[in-house]
Amino acid sequence: MREVAGKVAFVTGGASGIGLGIARTLARASVKVAIADVRPEALRAAAASLAKEGLSAVTVELDVSNRGAWPAAADRVERELGTVQILCSNAGVNFIGATQEATYEDWDFALQVNVGGAISAVKTFVPRMIAKGGDGHVVITSSVSGLFTGPGAGVYVTTKFALVGLAEALRADLKPKGIGVSVLCPGPVKSELFESTLTVRPRALAATGSVPIVPPGVAREHTPIFTTAPSGDEIGQHVLNGIRRDELYILTHPEIRPVLEARAGALLAALPDEPVDPRRIEASQPLLDTSLYR
Ligand code: NAI
Repeated sequence: MREVAGKVAFVTGGASGIGLGIARTLARASVKVAIADVRPEALRAAAASLAKEGLSAVTVELDVSNRGAWPAAADRVERELGTVQILCSNAGVNFIGATQEATYEDWDFALQVNVGGAISAVKTFVPRMIAKGGDGHVVITSSVSGLFTGPGAGVYVTTKFALVGLAEALRADLKPKGIGVSVLCPGPVKSELFESTLTVRPRALAATGSVPIVPPGVAREHTPIFTTAPSGDEIGQHVLNGIRRDELYILTHPEIRPVLEARAGALLAALPDEPVDPRRIEASQPLLDTSLYR
């Protein structure tokens, strides 16, 4: 999508951090923006911070994990701004803990927000984009945790790998419709992720196997991984560039290169060194199509 000005965007998790950075960057580029979030006070603060710059946004209180609430949210935005042509499914939660200790409730919560939210976003808005005649773009926020992992991240990583798969498959499906799809995979970003997860996570999960990544009382602003991190606005600029250039992957942290190389190398090294029946290769042609990645 080369021309974004005048288009309508819907950004979930838009009340802070990366979502607000995306919303702000799009609004500066003359996109009409709606921000959806489950925290009403944060939505009000976000609208006020945009207004300081002379920017405006329609605010929508929405729990992305509540499937039934999506159609009304979409109808309202369509009435107030027009058909959504830029969909940014970005709301998410994060917590850590040994994978084997996460409870079913931990899993359900993370899957319903991080993956369920994206599924509902796609189910709600993509048919409307198609009906409008295409010329749309979908951005799904995953993470570097959708590309590789480490200890303690099993629940989060499962949701974020799922989002990379969703975005890739959706891109293949929507290409003939003229709709682009990108997956955003940032490393650490200055945001309210851990504070917001504490707020939105059901209280009953407080003592389960998975805990907020920065426990209450820890001064995040003194933690080097956050003090050195880019801002949501910087990530927003990457997203705008990614939409304009129709990039499949929007990566923001070049320092992840060695890990990507190591993982790709490990996959290639795992291929069995054995002859393959040419008829099997012939039969698998649709599966072996590389065009999505080129
Ligand atoms: P944030 O906390 O500043 O923004 C996330 C927003 O999502 C919050 O405003 C929160 O209220 C909202 N939210 C949470 N559950 C929701 C629900 N059920 N319905 C609607 N809104 C809900 O955090 P951040 O970092 O900006 O997170 C945005 C996305 O970026 C998330 O998907 C996160 O996993 C991803 N991400 C964040 C990174 C980071 O270092 N901050 C790195 C890579 C990815």
